[in-house]
Amino acid sequence: MPLRSAGSGKVARDAVHHPLFARYYARASVAAETRLGMARLRERLLAGLGGRVIEIGAGNGLNFAHYPGTVAEVVAIEPERLLRQRAVEAALRAGIPVDVVPGCAEALPVKSEGFDAVVLSLVLCSVRDLPRALAEIRRVLRPGGEVRFFEHGRGGGRAMVLTQRALDRTVWPALSGGCHLSRDPVGALRDAGFELGPYRRLLVPDKGPALPCSYCALGTAWRPGRGDDPVPER
Ligand SMILES: C[S@@+](CC[C@H](N)C(=O)[O-])C[C@H]1O[C@@H](n2cnc3c(N)ncnc32)[C@H](O)[C@@H]1O
Repeated sequence: MPLRSAGSGKVARDAVHHPLFARYYARASVAAETRLGMARLRERLLAGLGGRVIEIGAGNGLNFAHYPGTVAEVVAIEPERLLRQRAVEAALRAGIPVDVVPGCAEALPVKSEGFDAVVLSLVLCSVRDLPRALAEIRRVLRPGGEVRFFEHGRGGGRAMVLTQRALDRTVWPALSGGCHLSRDPVGALRDAGFELGPYRRLLVPDKGPALPCSYCALGTAWRPGRGDDPVPER
């Protein structure tokens, strides 16, 4: 149950404010649905999901059309105002109930263990504090719940990784709404205590020369069941 909805209450200050990038992304992401095959990847990301789902950093809501009818409800968290407005529009067209909620991954405005699944698509690159965001994601997921991820990150040979790191230290985050190229989303999920399920590495676009943002991973991870949770240290 979200504590604050897009239609009610005022958000004092947007936690994420990237108006130029948001405008660019709202256009480019729609073109990428067909041009880069993103629609097909979103379909694959969400296939077979069910129950209550929380999507983190939902952007302009391009995943919404791809949720299967077995999903009871999606709570879509989006901190950027313009993208959130677009997400609200997309939610109205979705075939399942979608509640678009302001908030950020590092402090999710929802109760603990309230969701059967968490969806992450192209967002772990952009959160400010990756371990904290993943701890929050773990908190809101029920024990045994599933993470579906489609994320880009570190990849290619040594020269490509050096390029990714150099871009991360200089212009890339400022130009791309806080995105980083050299993070390791799969390793970060593992480090945060998730069990990795099947996942595959892929290049987007899959033809032509690889770009620093081409190295993607698409797959699943799980919050361990209650009995499998590590015993907290005292
Ligand atoms: C590249 S876009 C991806 C949008 C969408 N998930 C998609 O698949 O098209 C990155 C998204 O992450 C959001 N974002 C950035 N920082 C965030 C944070 N700390 N918590 C949650 N979302 C964040 C941005 O506002 C943006 O919507």
